[in-house]
Order: sequence, then structure tokens, then C-alpha cells
Amino acid sequence: MKKEKDDKLGKIVSLCKRRGFIFPGSDIYGGLSGFYDYGPFGTDLKFNIKQEWWKNIVQARDDVVGISAAIIMNPKVWEASGHLSGGFTDILVECKKCHQRFKADDFEGICDNCGNKEFTEPRRFNTMFKTFVGPAEDSASVSYLRPETAAGIFVNFKNILDSTRIKIPFGIAQIGKAFRNEVNPKDYIFRTREFEQMELEYFVKPGEDKKYFDEWVDLRFKWYKDLGLKNIRKREQSKEERAHYSSATVDIEYEFPFGWKEIEGIANRTDFDLKTHYEHSGQDLSYTDDSGEKFIPYVIEPSAGPERLMLAFLCDAYEEERNRVVLKLHPKLAPIKVAVFPLLANKPKLIEKAKIIYNNLKKYFITAWDDRGNIGKRYYSQDEIGTPWTITCDFQTLEDDTVTVRDRDTTKQERIKIEELKNYFFQKLNE
Ligand code: GAP
Repeated sequence: MKKEKDDKLGKIVSLCKRRGFIFPGSDIYGGLSGFYDYGPFGTDLKFNIKQEWWKNIVQARDDVVGISAAIIMNPKVWEASGHLSGGFTDILVECKKCHQRFKADDFEGICDNCGNKEFTEPRRFNTMFKTFVGPAEDSASVSYLRPETAAGIFVNFKNILDSTRIKIPFGIAQIGKAFRNEVNPKDYIFRTREFEQMELEYFVKPGEDKKYFDEWVDLRFKWYKDLGLKNIRKREQSKEERAHYSSATVDIEYEFPFGWKEIEGIANRTDFDLKTHYEHSGQDLSYTDDSGEKFIPYVIEPSAGPERLMLAFLCDAYEEERNRVVLKLHPKLAPIKVAVFPLLANKPKLIEKAKIIYNNLKKYFITAWDDRGNIGKRYYSQDEIGTPWTITCDFQTLEDDTVTVRDRDTTKQERIKIEELKNYFFQKLNE
């Protein structure tokens, strides 16, 4: 069973490289541990995940606004948030023979690099990437690449209150890069050193936090279900597991080939962040409601990484059937929605007709063109990247303006009038 699961991940890694989803970072120089590059289909898949999140969290709601804050912030932010003073450290041990380092909580007592069983004493290691701002490389110019996007939201709380008409309860959302100098990045793109986060900070009145916490756990779980993700569950973190700022955290976990793992955490960050930034910056970060009551809001935070989600969606979608490999991605996530084929590549009339269909659909959907090889190979190629529908333009098309539309999951074909294609796909995408 374990071998089967390892094989599945290996097959996904190989498909992702072969078909241009994910490449090792700096590939021609042998890569760099914990960094990946995203190829054409991977970029689109990640974009679609982020877009679905943004539509659901920001655009479909009246109580959430979006921001895009700088990655490098004043280092005082990290002093205030506790990230510098020990709240953002991993405990690591080092193999005495080959010097490979391991995160103490992942560590199984044996070096998986050289098999040695002797290790140094555990020690703390801050996982923030340090850099210098400006030309002088001295302590006054030290800064950090943000390890979570949340901080950019907290420091803009007052700006948002002053510049919008939003009232509590309300949220501020952000999608952007985060960096962590992970001790041992592993499991492909599951744990990397550079990744993105999609985070919402939802500000509520103290005392109402539990209600909104439960509501967000359910909403976020539903989002995954609606996008067809099958093997997921909720798990409440123990007190020992929780981050320094959290009074309660529920993880949404997915069953990866390497086990059940967190894909998203929903935390009750209490008033920790606004309080600490209020104290350190001296700026009033309290809120006064319509009745004149003044308080520091509590914060509910759903936080997820699109790359980790992408791996979950890929693992869930990957299937091997009798004569094909297919990614059964939700159509909203699929990099390409429709592919158009002329039945034969050497018949100018078929090509001409198929090109008209292709150029028209391209205005509305991400559409691909393929006239290479035979139809079977073209289906195989589109199935492997998860394209939900393929259209074939054949000799009957020239007579009655209909085409065959093949469904990726069932492989069934139906004949549809060309003029109905646009509505047909709009309807299918929104089913
Ligand atoms: N602001 C809260 C926070 O950062 P987290 O549990 O450390 O909480 C939230 O991260 C999410 O960010 C995770 O559930 C995961 O999806 C993603 N994430 C965190 N570290 C990651 C890493 N090293 N590589 C890829 N994704 C990561």
C-alpha cells in the first residue's frame, strides 16, 4: 500500500514536469531545495485556485475587502508580532555524521540521508529569511521577507477603517508570497521555502468570536467540497500544537499519498495582533461601534497556501484508467476548459471550420487547438492535463453545423450545434 502511494506521488511529479505544470527551481543548475517554478499549466491551475478563493472570499461578499501589502515590512512589525522573539522558530536536530538537519517534530530518530542514529541536542532556529534594505549591510538595515501575509493586513487595519465605510464584522483578505527558511522542505510542493498564502483576517466583536470561528470553519470546508475535493476532514489542534497567537485552531486536512496533512488552518487569533501593534506602534487600533462602544476586535483567520492546495487537487484528480491517465480536476480549476480538433489535419475545409469555432470560443473560455497525430492521442493528451471537454469538427459538421463534444470523465460524446456551444459550456462550468 505504501509503495503504491509513493508511486502515485512519483507519477504526479513526473506528469507535472513532463506536461509543464511544475519544474524544480533553477533546474539547469541542479535545482535549489525548497524552491519550485510553475510552468504554463501549473501557473494557470494555481491562478484558478487563487481566483476561486478571491471570488468566494472577497468578490461574492459585501463584508470583505482585498489588499496587497509589501513583502518586506518595517522590522518593528516582526518584533511586535512575536516572530522575532521566539514565536516563529523551529526546533532542529543535526545528524552528527552527515550534518543533515531535521525538524524535531518530524524526526524519527534515524537520519534518512545516511542512516546514522546520533544527533546533536535540539536547538531553536528562526525560520525568517533575513535581508538588508539599502546599500549598507549593517544591523540598522536588517529586514525580513514576510513569513505570513497576515501581518500586512494588521498594519493596514487603521488605513482600511479610515478609507472605507466598512463596519464590524468585516474582513480584509490578501493573496501573496510568503517565505520560510524551512529546516527540511519536503513532500514536493507541500512544504517549500517560497510559497503563496491566501489569508483572510475577519474582525469581530469580542464575545462573538466563537460563533464566527465555527461559521468560517464550515464555510471553508464547504469551499473545498464544492470544488470536488474528496478526501478531506477537519481536525482541531491541541493547545501544544497551536501558534502563539491562537486560542483555537481547526485544520482542514487532506489525505495525501504521504498521509493526512493540513491544507488550511482556521485560527481564532483573539485580539493578540491588533493589541500588540497598538502597543508597539502607538497608533490607536481600537474600533468604536455605532452605539459608541470602543473595543479591540478579535480576529478569525482562515489561511491556506495555493501550492499546497494545488498538490491536494492534483492528487485527488489523478486517475489511471484502462488506456489513459486522467486529471479529473473541477472544470473551474482546469487550466484549459475546451480543446478543439479538426478530425483530419490535411483537410483544409475541416481546418477552416474548426478554426472558426476555436477563435470564437477563445473569447469566452481558455481554449486549446490541436491537430497533431490521431484523435485518440489528442484525447489522451488533453485528459492528462485535465481538459474537461474536447470538440471534434468532422465531415458532418460541414453539412449540419454540429460538432461532437466529448466529456473527459465519462468519455461520452454528444452532438451539439455550433451556435449552442458557448451557452453549453457556460452552463456546464456553473453547474
Ligand atoms: N497566518 C497563519 C499561518 O501562516 P500556517 O499554518 O503557518 O498559518 C497557513 O500557514 C497555510 O499556509 C498552511 O495551511 C499551508 O497551506 C500554507 N503553508 C504554510 N507553510 C508552507 C510551506 N512551507 N510551504 C507551502 N505552503 C505552506
